Parts: sequence; structure tokens; C-alpha cells
Amino acid sequence: MNKNSLTVTDNRTGKTYELPIENETIRAMDLRQIKENEEDFGLMAYDPGFKNTAACKSTITLIDGEKGILRYRGYPIEQLAEKSTFLETAYLVVNGELPTKSELDEWIWNVTHHTIIHENIKKFIDGFRYDAHPMGILVSAAAALSTFYTDAKNIKDPESRKKQTYRLIAKMPTLAAFGYRHSMGMPFVYPDNELSYAGNFLNMLFKMTELKYKPDPVLERAFDVLFILHADHEQNCGTTAMRTVGSSESDPFCAVAAAAAGLYGPLHGGANEQVLRMLREIGSIQNVPDYVKRAKSGEFRLMGFGHRVYKNYDPRAKIIKEIADEVFEVTGKNPLIDIAVELERIALEDDYFVTRKLYPNVDFYSGIIYEAMDIPVTMFPVLFAIGRTPGWISQWEELLLDKEQAISRPRQIYLGEDKRDYVQIENR
Ligand code: ACO
Repeated sequence: MNKNSLTVTDNRTGKTYELPIENETIRAMDLRQIKENEEDFGLMAYDPGFKNTAACKSTITLIDGEKGILRYRGYPIEQLAEKSTFLETAYLVVNGELPTKSELDEWIWNVTHHTIIHENIKKFIDGFRYDAHPMGILVSAAAALSTFYTDAKNIKDPESRKKQTYRLIAKMPTLAAFGYRHSMGMPFVYPDNELSYAGNFLNMLFKMTELKYKPDPVLERAFDVLFILHADHEQNCGTTAMRTVGSSESDPFCAVAAAAAGLYGPLHGGANEQVLRMLREIGSIQNVPDYVKRAKSGEFRLMGFGHRVYKNYDPRAKIIKEIADEVFEVTGKNPLIDIAVELERIALEDDYFVTRKLYPNVDFYSGIIYEAMDIPVTMFPVLFAIGRTPGWISQWEELLLDKEQAISRPRQIYLGEDKRDYVQIENR
């Protein structure tokens, strides 16, 4: 018997099957041969939320949730956060290797020279209500780009994919900043090609009447690192949306819009917004124990705690906590940090959180930093989306080049009514 296999006995029939094990996985389609009788459809796996289903083979990101490890293309997140820049990391995530000097220069040039958006997109953003959520604007504007770049439909052409990659990485900050300026009732600021990726983003967010915006180097670096930390995170909800929509051969702008829509939810990219609301509701350090007690009783969840994959400290949360001190040197301390630190301390000593392996995730401290930088909470998932764009693109391209992939189409277990005849309304 092949040692790399699983022997399954169907107790309904007494038959035994040998299912190959490859990469610690059995193929769900191998279950289909297991039938009670010939007419049977065959066995399926039931896995709501895909908690134990691998939907692809990937070479992009490794997470070891038990050990708290995150690597892009093999490089530990701690090293990238310390030594790399966001655009270099984006190149790595998309292309698989760190760039040479000339490759990096060319990459930066191309991204920098695709930051401007069509004036009609600007008008489109202007059409939103004054209080429109910037994430709603970003999702819509990303989808709208698909109507401006119809060549993006050539998804099988590597040159076209490269062009859309530049466009997406370059234009997401512009869409994000324009959405923000619209919500503030302020004029749009056009990209400045002399600034870095993060520096230009700060320029488009905050430039007022000065002729040339000079980003604070600490805040510029903080943004760059935050973008690095968010660049990819394997098969999360947003990325799965990207792959699912991409699997129907939709163009990448529509797929990114879908991914961003996934990210919008409070259980995903919207969690840091909820963290701030929670910390404000707690109000002071003295109220922390009572709040933790209520979370334990199931009244609500501690936002920014827990993760589907990490069952240890999220390595991104550690790095963000360190950045916080540097940012506060420039902006002044955000008083919510003390409540957050106390909440973390109490929760990590509590049996409820320890036994469930609930640790602070990436969202726990990021909101506190953003708030200190005067970024409104509604912009938090938008910032996440900018950082995640290279990840979405690389996952999408990996899907397109993977011969084993097919259009996403899960099965269901039908538990509804059996066939019944239509009843006229007067007889119901
Ligand atoms: N506070 C209190 N209890 C929690 C929390 C929390 N934040 N998260 C999970 N639990 C408890 C659950 O009640 C459950 O307890 P039980 O076993 O007694 O029923 C147990 O821990 C397991 O929870 P699940 O929901 O099964 O875990 P899952 O992996 O499905 O959920 C999730 C992960 C959605 C992130 C969850 O931890 C959560 O809701 N956290 C708060 C929201 C948040 O911070 N989201 C951001 C995630 S990071 C990101 O998307 C970028």
C-alpha cells in the first residue's frame, strides 16, 4: 500500500478506497468515487467558510499561524519591514524575486507614471454624496477603471497584465486620496512624481495651499511600512474574492473592486475602524476588565483580536506596535494606545483568550496610528486596500497561469423542499 495515502472505508457499503495524499492534502474530487450505489452523485466535502479547504497551490505568501510567521516569496515580513520599501516589496510579491537596481528603477518609473486618473473618473468621484464612505468610493472607482482601460480584458496577454499591474498599483492611492478629499469637501490634489509612493499619497491627502508638499519622513516611512505589512496575506476573504471573480476571466479592475468589497467588511479590513470605536467606548483603563468580562460572556467580540489563521501573535501587529512610538514622536501620543496596551495585557493573561489562542491581529494597533496621523476611520480599509493591491494582482496572475484552476463554482447541500406543484394565490 502507498504510504502517502488515506484509506477510507464507507460503512454504508463496506467498500474501501485509497486516496492519495499530496502536500498533506487529499483531492476533494477523489471523494466523488465513494458512492452508495451507481446512481449516487458521490461524496463531497462540506466546508462553510473554507476553514479546511485549499483552493489553490501558491508560491506567494507563507503564513505559519501557530508560530506567528509571515513570509512573502520566502522573505520574512520583519526583514522586509526593516529593509525594503513598499514598491520593492510589491515587485517581489508580483514577480517572485527581489529586483535588481535597474529592474527596480524601471518598476518605480512605470508605477510613478501611471498615477494620474482620467478626468472623467475625477468627475465620477465628485458625483458621490458628500458623506459617501471612501471605501464605497474606492470600490466603485476601481470597477469604473475597467470601462476606461478596455485593453485590460486581454487577460491572457502578459504585456497587458503588466500594464494593468502598473495602473492598479499606481492609481489606487490616487482614487483613495480623491475619495478622501471629496469627503472633506476639499479640492483634489494631483500626483507629484518627484515624491515617493507613500510621500505622494500623503501629498494627495494633505496638501493645502503650499506650492510643494514636503512629507514628514517619519510618517512617509510609517505609511510605507504599513503598506508592506498589508501587501499579501494568502487566501483571505478579499483575495478569495479576487480569485473567484478572476476565475471567470473578468478584467483585473473588476476583480480588484470585488476584492476591495470583501475587504470592506468589519470582520476583515474594516476591523481597525471597529477597534477605535471599541477603544473609545471603553473610554479609560479602569473600564478594561469589565469590558473584557462582557466580551467573554459572548456579548460582543474584542475587535482586533483573533484570526482565522494566526493562533499566535500576528507578526504584523508586533511591527505596527513599534512604529506607533515613532509616529507619536511626530504627531503626539494617541491616548487610546494606553487603553489598547492594557486591553492586550489583560486579555493575554485571561484563560478565555489563551485557550482560544486569540491574540491581537494587524488591525489592533494600525487604527491608533492612522488616527494620530489625522486619518479618519472611514479611510482605514482604504489604506489596507492600497497595500493589498500587489497581493491581489499576484494572486490573480498566479490563478490565470495555473493550468489546474477552473472557474470557481462550489457545490451545495440542498436541504430545501422536494418537488411541489404551484398553488394559485387564492388557494394558499
Ligand atoms: N473576541 C472574543 N471572542 C472571540 C473573538 C474575539 N475577537 N474571536 C473569536 N472569538 C471566540 C469565538 O467566540 C469562539 O469561541 P467559542 O469556541 O467559545 O465559540 C472562538 O473564539 C473561535 O472563534 P471563530 O469565530 O470560530 O474563529 P474564526 O477563525 O472563524 O474567526 C475572526 C476569526 C473572524 C477574525 C474572529 O476572531 C473575529 O471576529 N475577530 C474580531 C474581528 C477582527 O479583528 N477581524 C480582523 C481579522 S484580521 C484581518 O482581517 C485583516
